[in-house]
Amino acid sequence: MAPPADLLALLQGHGQEHLLDHWDSLTQDQQDAFRAELTDLDLAEVCGYFARTAESMTHTTEKLDDKMHPLQESQCGAVGKTSDRELASYANSSYEEISKSRVGILLLAGGQGTRLGTSYPKGMYNVGLPSQKTLFQLQAERISSLQKLAEEKTGRAGKIAWYIMTSASTVKPTSDFFAEHNYFGLEAENVFIFQQGTLPCFTFEGKMILGEKGALSRAPDGNGGLYRALKQEGVLADMKGKGVKYIQLYCVDNVLVKVGDPVFMGYCLAKEAECANKVVRKGFPTEAVGITCKVEEHYQVVEYSEITQKSAEKRNKDGSLVYGAANICIHFFTFDFLERVVMFNEDSLHHHVAKKKIPYVNAEGSLVKPDKPNGIKMEKFVFDVFQFAKNFVVWECLRDEEFAPLKNAEGAPDFTPTYCRNALLALHQKWLRIAGAKLVDASGKEAAQMGSPAGENNNNDADNNNDEKDFVVMAEISPLVSYAGENLGQYKGKTLQLPLSL
Ligand code: UTP
Repeated sequence: MAPPADLLALLQGHGQEHLLDHWDSLTQDQQDAFRAELTDLDLAEVCGYFARTAESMTHTTEKLDDKMHPLQESQCGAVGKTSDRELASYANSSYEEISKSRVGILLLAGGQGTRLGTSYPKGMYNVGLPSQKTLFQLQAERISSLQKLAEEKTGRAGKIAWYIMTSASTVKPTSDFFAEHNYFGLEAENVFIFQQGTLPCFTFEGKMILGEKGALSRAPDGNGGLYRALKQEGVLADMKGKGVKYIQLYCVDNVLVKVGDPVFMGYCLAKEAECANKVVRKGFPTEAVGITCKVEEHYQVVEYSEITQKSAEKRNKDGSLVYGAANICIHFFTFDFLERVVMFNEDSLHHHVAKKKIPYVNAEGSLVKPDKPNGIKMEKFVFDVFQFAKNFVVWECLRDEEFAPLKNAEGAPDFTPTYCRNALLALHQKWLRIAGAKLVDASGKEAAQMGSPAGENNNNDADNNNDEKDFVVMAEISPLVSYAGENLGQYKGKTLQLPLSL
């Protein structure tokens, strides 16, 4: 049976008629579903996105050095340069806002996690902690803990609204997971799970790719798909209804993330910022991270490939890198800023190109898995809204306390489950030592300090008779006991035997 003339004409208008090559092999139901998919799509808009994105692919990466400036000192705060008293005052102003239920948290969890390679959402991953907690559980418990801290400080029990962005492939397992676990102790009405959009994948020549004979290959529209979803999925309206005024955003894969960090938010409030980026110091000039700066008149995250080595190596008088504010995807927005961006600026955010190996149905109708990139996914980036901010600040935190992302499967050189597990255990060891506890193993030998996440081969094998070898300090502290190292005073001067779970 020949493809229906109306559908063919529609697709021909945009050079996409190849999508009907297998029409006659589809069942009636499949044809109906495919027709619905194609007619639901705004072909002019989507092909327009491709044209704009393809245009950007033809430019060799432009270097931005001549247009870049570092931020002014008055816009840059840092944990390491702030007195304990000021840190406490920042936190207190956030507790006030939390106690009035004016704080919302946005979690980006719509990614496909292809490098980690699991068949389920990354938030459901357990990095092998003694407690076996998943990333979602750790984050939910941090939110509970923060609510409790705010209540203790202010005497008022406010609620934090948690907004979780998922995508077509993660929405159902994520929603089911939270429901099965009773929202990890949070109230269901304060956990709002929503879905970002998808876009068709294209070949480099601008043809949409068939993922099945009667379905397009689609991918989430990037973490910047957030802004469109905030409107379409009723998130902004929910925030407005709940009276949310301040929002912190983070990525699902950071095992150390201080969800809703009261110090960061307090700094933003003190500076009356409408938008802010929490950063870590770039480790070395050639580290492949995006850095936060001003490009001409606008705030931006500039990729490592967009600056020359000379700029990357430029140093301040104190030896620190001029362009050293590394992006870790933790942001702050006022509700008013977010609403303005969603209503007026979302359309002007352009898509970035991700060249990928995209499985496709070939002319013979077989599914082919290419071994090299054969097409593009189009993605918006969440930080591209910095350009619309008038009052923007950055807050620098310590990497070993706040940033360890889960990106890769075991066996990769970094950002593996073992890397994340050790980063968390090292932090908890640090908290206990700061509290004044002594950590020993079963034989009474004092545990060596875990400076940075240990390597994959590091273990606490009981048969290991190499006295010099460090062992991984199995001390894990539940977020319900301590949000960020507080509440451990009772262990001062105490000897604690490992392994230990508090
Ligand atoms: P990454 O770019 O690291 O992607 O996402 P990923 O999906 O986790 O992993 P790979 O690249 O497929 O291996 C950074 C953050 O942005 C979210 C992810 O869930 C993660 O929290 N993200 C990414 C979205 O929410 N939507 C997207 O479309 C892409």
